[in-house]
Amino acid sequence: MKNQQTAGAVAASTSEARDLALPVKADLLVTEQKLSRLLDSNEALIGEICHYLVDGGGKRLRPLFILLVYRACGGVSEKIEDAIDAAIALELIHSATLLHDDIIDGGLLRRGKPSAFARYGFAPSLVAGDFLFCRAFELCGRFEERLVRTAAQACIQLTEGEVMEGRMRHNAAATIDDYIAVITRKTASLFAAGGKVAADLAGADAKTITAMETLGLAIGLAFQMIDDLLDVLGPEEKIGKPVGSDLRAGIISLPVVLGVQHNTEFARNFRAGTRLEGADFDHALQLMRDPVMIARGRALATAQVARARDLLAQLKPSIYRDSLAALIDDQIDRED
Ligand code: FPP
Ligand code: MG
Repeated sequence: MKNQQTAGAVAASTSEARDLALPVKADLLVTEQKLSRLLDSNEALIGEICHYLVDGGGKRLRPLFILLVYRACGGVSEKIEDAIDAAIALELIHSATLLHDDIIDGGLLRRGKPSAFARYGFAPSLVAGDFLFCRAFELCGRFEERLVRTAAQACIQLTEGEVMEGRMRHNAAATIDDYIAVITRKTASLFAAGGKVAADLAGADAKTITAMETLGLAIGLAFQMIDDLLDVLGPEEKIGKPVGSDLRAGIISLPVVLGVQHNTEFARNFRAGTRLEGADFDHALQLMRDPVMIARGRALATAQVARARDLLAQLKPSIYRDSLAALIDDQIDRED
């Protein structure tokens, strides 16, 4: 399903925007090379774990978003290294959270293969996450204080989102507002910081910087909403992790919250402290796959996409803006 509502303002699917990374391909290549170098450590095991996670897939959505925002806001090639370092820093932070998240969730499969936690164990994965996190701030350290603070505040939100999610586990009274509060922190905060920093580095005015921060927030929310729907729709080969992981862990994902609000049978099953197993789990998963529920979830994600698309209209037309439009729309269509 393509977002049609706001398409009048900004073209989305022009043929040149379809390979949406094309306008920043060269920047992405440099990003990838420098990112790879930063994964190396004096301790071979740390480097091995970091390469295992980061080289083993990943959409590089955050670097792509930052580089496109930078260019779409008029950022010049002479200062592209700033945007590249910001892009790398966010990818490093994101990777650190994945290592820690799999420890917390007991996640054994990530990006279609054993997670670092499954392969290397608790302590090495924990320290490798810390290493990536420190690498990010080593890189950010040369930026002005307000930019470093933006990145740090996003990290604070990530931790709070993770803990809030844990606090809400198995809570059959969870509302959409609770859900939005969790995903704003655990996912969208990093995209918002990326949009804000990229526009700032490009020399954009205050209004545009705020617009790109809000746009990042909206993309991040849409991304997580679709991620949650894919968690129940699968298949495992596409999403790279077991189907129904959120339900199994009692996480108040989007389909769970919709389920507890609109389906009394599901709400009964999703009680505090109850871990669904076997046939009960399969049945609950079936209830969550109800096309009406999935359509409700998609509608919420589509609203965020429309919000992001509206904000794009504040930027001057460019190939970068077209790619951003395609990137935004892709959040609804993606299958992995
Ligand atoms: C993945 O979500 C997890 C996050 C987006 C945030 C995790 C945050 C922390 C572990 C806090 C630590 C923070 C820092 C800065 C190191 P998910 O579980 O919905 O995704 P998944 O299904 O891919 O596991
Ligand atoms: Mg997880």
